[in-house]
Amino acid sequence: MTDRASQASASYYIRTFGCQMNMHDSEHLAGVLELSGYTGAADIVQADIVIYNTCMVRQSAEDKAWGQIEALSSLNGSALLAVCGCMAERYGVDIMSRCPGVDLVFGLHSIARLAEMLEKSSRARLCDLGNINRASIDELPSKRANPSAAWVPVSHGCDRFCSYCVVPLVRGRERSRPPGEVTEEVQRLASAGVFEITLLGQNVNSYGRGLDGTSFAGLLESVACVPGIRRVKFETSHPGDLSDSILVAMSGRAEVCEYLHLPVQSGSNDVLSAMGRGYDRDYYLQRVERARELVPGVVISTDIMVGFPGETDGDFQGTMDLVRAVGFDAAFMFMYSRREGTAAASIGNEVPQVVKAERLKALSRLQARFTRKSLVNLVGSTVELLVEGVARSGEYVVGRTRGHQVVLLPSFEAPLYSLVEAYVPGAGSHAARGRVKKVIREPPD
Ligand code: 5AD
Ligand code: SF4
Repeated sequence: MTDRASQASASYYIRTFGCQMNMHDSEHLAGVLELSGYTGAADIVQADIVIYNTCMVRQSAEDKAWGQIEALSSLNGSALLAVCGCMAERYGVDIMSRCPGVDLVFGLHSIARLAEMLEKSSRARLCDLGNINRASIDELPSKRANPSAAWVPVSHGCDRFCSYCVVPLVRGRERSRPPGEVTEEVQRLASAGVFEITLLGQNVNSYGRGLDGTSFAGLLESVACVPGIRRVKFETSHPGDLSDSILVAMSGRAEVCEYLHLPVQSGSNDVLSAMGRGYDRDYYLQRVERARELVPGVVISTDIMVGFPGETDGDFQGTMDLVRAVGFDAAFMFMYSRREGTAAASIGNEVPQVVKAERLKALSRLQARFTRKSLVNLVGSTVELLVEGVARSGEYVVGRTRGHQVVLLPSFEAPLYSLVEAYVPGAGSHAARGRVKKVIREPPD
């Protein structure tokens, strides 16, 4: 590490792993750094400061982060190396013992003091985790790549304690933000030209527990009413807290998009019970039916895990049957990963890796048919798309429907971050294709 890192004109590079909450936290990191005079580096090799914002929901995410942290010295040995995010919250100072190249480990709850911590750690290694239950980072400045869309956290942490999940252990107990604070943030964003808001929480549906007279349905309505806001999305929904009033609020306001991310995790009652999910298969199916009844055209995606301890072939077939019964528009599928400190870690009865891999393959193959079917259903229709970014090939840009489906557009037709109306002439396995009919809204300057 050089002295450059301690100067306020130094350049920074943030590498983010994991969920949208982590990506949003990184926007705060960038906002705080820029306010202190730091500038974004073109790439990791040129940066004076490299920050890894880490995830540990599965071992694979953790391994990836450890690997990249350890490899940084060969890419850019002179940068000041900082680690934050879930691994920092969980392992703290142990990260420094394991990785001698790490100069700073910090908790998200101390990022208001980021510039000061960087300065200190350029002189001596530092670990500062802050107090997870006290400091709030929501009011800190943030820097977004997309000027048209913003993530807005409504709660932090989780009280569900699903037996496999490390989130409550690293993110703490559920804390809802006061509704006034959330709507004020949305108003501020709308005045800056943002027209799509995604409300974020580990379990948004339980928002307001502990705050008098507040519910997620009520919050959805207030956010949807903010002048200038055109699309409101939210995630993640826990089926156990998905009330009819939330579904009614979704269909009652045109601004609230017809999109539900509703993780099921398993289609076996025994596994759901061992996971501590708090619902059974029939209840889940009934929630899906109700959503389709109350929110016409709703697009439903899910998370599914295979190979939970003790999962039998019969249990797995239950998951396959549920996938056939629901016909999800999209699904994120994972192999169970043992997380130290969770209740499931002490169950034993682990499913062998090869069996997990086979199950994941079979499940992915089955789901691919439904994903494709859902995309093919868009063919021949006209959809509203927010142009989110450039696709891998570079010739296309990625548009998202109100149902969060991906439609690729020729890049010369669609300005980045605009809202467009597009005709869908075709669809592939991962995305549909569109042709722009008109630009509905240009991005803010
Ligand atoms: N192993 C595998 N997948 C997990 N998830 C959460 N914890 C684990 C774990 N220990 C998955 C769940 C969750 C998604 C964000 O990650 O499916 O919904
Ligand atoms: Fe983890 Fe369950 Fe909370 Fe989701 S609801 S974050 S899976 S504990």
